[in-house]
Amino acid sequence: METTLIILKPDAVQRGLVGRILTRFEEKGLQVVGMKLTQIPRATAEKHYAPHAGKPFYDGLLRFMTSSPVVVLAVQGVGAIAIARNLMGATFGSKAAPGTIRGDFGVSNAFNLIHGSDSPEAAAKELALFFAPGELVEWPRLIEGWVYDLSSGTRE
Ligand code: RTP
Ligand code: MG
Repeated sequence: METTLIILKPDAVQRGLVGRILTRFEEKGLQVVGMKLTQIPRATAEKHYAPHAGKPFYDGLLRFMTSSPVVVLAVQGVGAIAIARNLMGATFGSKAAPGTIRGDFGVSNAFNLIHGSDSPEAAAKELALFFAPGELVEWPRLIEGWVYDLSSGTRE
């Protein structure tokens, strides 16, 4: 099982797309184990996007991400990191395929609606950055046996 950090960026919140984007994850069968509305402090945004420090888009990206509230989600499932990245689509809204979140809801390259961790290492770091210990809730999902085939004792 993996848990990944998803951020519904300021444009998603301002455009009233939180519900529709969250629905994509729920419909897919991923399980939400953390969720909150917050305005990201500058220092947190700097840590989160540290791998991009010094790139031409870095300052604009930090301004955008701290400009207005976001919704942060912790989302769980087998292979959740790659599944979430596929649901999101390519980075730029202008290039993202139809059927993906970025492909369906935006045209902008900078305002691309959503962030998702890109590796297990990034997910661990980012989850710790946005959720305090105890804020993630491991809750038993009663439909688990219909989301996955559990007959072999693992989630298939
Ligand atoms: P994210 O980290 O937000 O999930 O997006 P990503 O992995 O698909 O893309 P990444 O390369 O990590 O870039 C992080 C965010 O920076 C903005 N960006 N702008 N103008 C540009 O060339 C450019 N490149 C990246 C986007 O907001 C992107 O999501
Ligand atoms: Mg990235």
